[in-house]
Amino acid sequence: MNIIQCNDSKEVALLSYRIFKEQLIKKPNSTLGLATGSTPILLYNELIKGSQLNEISFKKVNIFNLDEYVGLNSEHKNSYAFFMKEYLLNFIEIEDNHFHIPNGTACDLIEECHRYNNLLSSTKIDLQLLGLGENGHIGFNEPNTSFESTTHLVELTENTRKNNSIYFKSINDIPTHAITMGISNIINATKILLLAIGENKAEAVYNLINGPIDVKFPGSILRNHPDVTIILDKEAATLINKVK
Ligand code: GLP
Repeated sequence: MNIIQCNDSKEVALLSYRIFKEQLIKKPNSTLGLATGSTPILLYNELIKGSQLNEISFKKVNIFNLDEYVGLNSEHKNSYAFFMKEYLLNFIEIEDNHFHIPNGTACDLIEECHRYNNLLSSTKIDLQLLGLGENGHIGFNEPNTSFESTTHLVELTENTRKNNSIYFKSINDIPTHAITMGISNIINATKILLLAIGENKAEAVYNLINGPIDVKFPGSILRNHPDVTIILDKEAATLINKVK
């Protein structure tokens, strides 16, 4: 694993932008795996700037998002589909049918997991972006999810719902379930880039790097992947630095 420590979140965004730029220059029709949450927002700003400056282009790119809340449609301001439009898609040139995300309002959610998983199986993600949950989740793969899991329906833990509550009016508005790419879908990507920002991620980052590779901490599986880069700000790196 390649671990890079930055001074602040701006530097995290600039360095990760460089990795995306390299990828899109090397392969303009790349398949990207993207994430939501507060962590990638500054990177998405850089991707927008880069495409406006014609440094990069999304015209031939396909995007697969990690996950979506059950019960929220793409017009709901808390859905991840809406998040992606608001923070990236509305500002780049990408073919409508090149953006993929699970449909959290499908009548048959299990069938929707199969549909999304089949789409993922028909391609290979060149570069997968990840954030990290405080409990070690990647996508919405909560602790004790099998490393062999494919796209599936999950019940969100109270911890995850609490951490994501800042985006909702009240904790009761937060969906209890989500559809997420499985761990095996994530691990299948050619290259993985995980970003962590802020002191609340320091313990999870420490466990990811030093703890056992165990389903109790889903992110630990990344240590078995041949091409993972982790970019951290100073706060997220606090505990790994203490140990040295
Ligand atoms: C959610 C998303 C994850 C994301 C995590 C961290 O649970 N499903 O993909 O990595 O939140 O979010 P944040 O970046 O806001 O800390």
